[in-house]
Amino acid sequence: MSLRAARADDVAQLSALDTASGGGGWSASQFATWLSTTLVLEDQAAILGFVTYSSVLDEAEILNIAVTTARRREGLGQRLWSAALAQFQRDGVQRCHLEVRAGNEAAIAFYHALGFAPTGTRKNYYSGPAGREDALLMTLVLETDA
Ligand SMILES: CC(C)(COP(=O)(O)OP(=O)(O)OC[C@H]1O[C@@H](n2cnc3c(N)ncnc32)[C@H](O)[C@@H]1OP(=O)(O)O)[C@@H](O)C(=O)NCCC(=O)NCCS
Repeated sequence: MSLRAARADDVAQLSALDTASGGGGWSASQFATWLSTTLVLEDQAAILGFVTYSSVLDEAEILNIAVTTARRREGLGQRLWSAALAQFQRDGVQRCHLEVRAGNEAAIAFYHALGFAPTGTRKNYYSGPAGREDALLMTLVLETDA
């Protein structure tokens, strides 16, 4: 299994994985937009997971992350996060933010395990088949050498 930067020919597979994961529901063109800040875990040409982030100055945001359903709870999400974190540390990022559906218990538990703490909610932020859903905002303050 290898971790690498995403490539243009990954976008269809990334979008399919995202849809099957019940994650962000991103289209191939959204993945194309964020290709340069997407990392993938690949095994024999199959993408098992990805993380997409943005970073500006000392702030970063996790925009999307998913691991294929059959390979969850094997530490792959943690491995993707560690790679993003290493990049944040190289870039001088001090805080990382994200938003997650308030009912996405697995993702919230995952983010807690990484050290993220809740900072607020956005009421009715997401829409879906079951109606509107709040977004939970979470932040991690990165440790710095200073
Ligand atoms: C969130 C997600 C990426 C986690 O990936 P993963 O590879 O299963 O996570 P890991 O195996 O690295 O888990 C690391 C730790 O997070 C916590 N965790 C992860 N999934 C969990 C779950 N379903 N329930 C409780 N804790 C969980 C645990 O502490 C876990 O450590 P442990 O397995 O030793 O107990 C995965 O569940 C996923 O793809 N979900 C669908 C997409 C999604 O909702 N993305 C988030 C959008 S905001």
